[in-house]
Amino acid sequence: MEEIKQKHMVVDSHAHLTLPQFDKDRRTVIERARKTGLEHIITVGLGVEDCRKALMVAEEYDFISVAVGVHPHDTKTIDEKAYSVLKDLTSHEKVVAIGEIGLDFYRNLSPREIQVEHFRKQLHLAREVSLPVIIHDRDAHHEVVTILREEQAETIGGVIHCFSGDWSMAEACLDLGFYLSIPGTITFRDSGPYQDLVKKLPLNRLLVETDCPFLTPRPFRGKRNEPAHVCYVAQTLARLKQMDVSEVAEITTHNAQKIFNIVLPY
Ligand code: NI
Repeated sequence: MEEIKQKHMVVDSHAHLTLPQFDKDRRTVIERARKTGLEHIITVGLGVEDCRKALMVAEEYDFISVAVGVHPHDTKTIDEKAYSVLKDLTSHEKVVAIGEIGLDFYRNLSPREIQVEHFRKQLHLAREVSLPVIIHDRDAHHEVVTILREEQAETIGGVIHCFSGDWSMAEACLDLGFYLSIPGTITFRDSGPYQDLVKKLPLNRLLVETDCPFLTPRPFRGKRNEPAHVCYVAQTLARLKQMDVSEVAEITTHNAQKIFNIVLPY
């Protein structure tokens, strides 16, 4: 794989810098991302405590922003107090989105009806505080689109993170004004059908992400993922789109800037 020789303006739209996988070398990882050319990282909250931790990490760096929310896996632990805490956290200047929220009908770590209830409630919170949403959808494409339509999510806006739907889901999400975020799985040798789909998606509606420490792209598959590796996603996207990687970096960065309303230093 082609080496990254030059700095590109890339935004990792979805990282989990708070997770224990980074406890030993978090600063090194963040500084390495910066050196590799990352313009910005959105570190995404998984629950109330994790969001607090994310803010502590972000406060130290001007190129890290935060999404606050409760992951579908953890919706069974939400109480009413959680909503007032989340709402308070949204007034922090580092918070740019509500996320990650959504449905995970693959692992079902919270009962489905509880996931649905808190997906809707967090969409309401996003509308109330005028922030875009970062959506997690695993094996729940139909339900996610239905809820987004019912909740008029086109008036909220946001990103489908690790987009894994088919063409009709992509169209539905694009119709709602949503952006689709592409993870490291796009680099895998066995991702042919996914690459064919992504090829057809409009670049002005795509973001790139790592979802680190998970979903490590080639050539590091199997190891811990980190924000610096988002460059490999941008490279693969460039190859699929037959464009220069710097152009892909520029457009996806512009998209991230627009949706999250982040100010970049250039
Ligand atoms: Ni995530």
